[in-house]
Amino acid sequence: MEQTLSIIKPDAVKKNVIGKIIDRFESNGLKIVAMKKLALDKATAGNFYAIHKDRPFFNDLVEFMISGPVVVMVLEGKNAVKKNRELMGDTDPKKATKGTIRADFAESIDANAVHGSDSLENAKNEIAFFFSQTEIK
Ligand code: CMP
Repeated sequence: MEQTLSIIKPDAVKKNVIGKIIDRFESNGLKIVAMKKLALDKATAGNFYAIHKDRPFFNDLVEFMISGPVVVMVLEGKNAVKKNRELMGDTDPKKATKGTIRADFAESIDANAVHGSDSLENAKNEIAFFFSQTEIK
């Protein structure tokens, strides 16, 4: 069993498709073992995406992530990291396979509906960034 971090981003929350996205996870063998809806502030969003701080898209990414509430979840299941990334599809929705979350719900590489950890090691760090162990059941 693995755990991974998922974020439903402000564009998808605004579109009222939280439930539809969660259904993709639950219908594909991933269980939500922690979840909260929150408004990120600039410092928190910047720290979460610190790995991208030297990339040209960093400021736009942070501004986008604080533009509205997000839903942060811990997903658990067999090969959860890889499974979540398959369900999300390519980072750029224009390149994402039909039937993936980003192909179906996202507009652009900036407003791309969801974030998911890209490795087991990053998943552990990202989960600890948002949740204490007592919040994960
Ligand atoms: P995410 O998986 O949340 O990780 C970083 C985010 O930066 C990514 O999804 C995209 O929404 C955003 N981003 C914007 N431009 C790029 C780019 N050229 N390459 C990767 N990510 C990008």
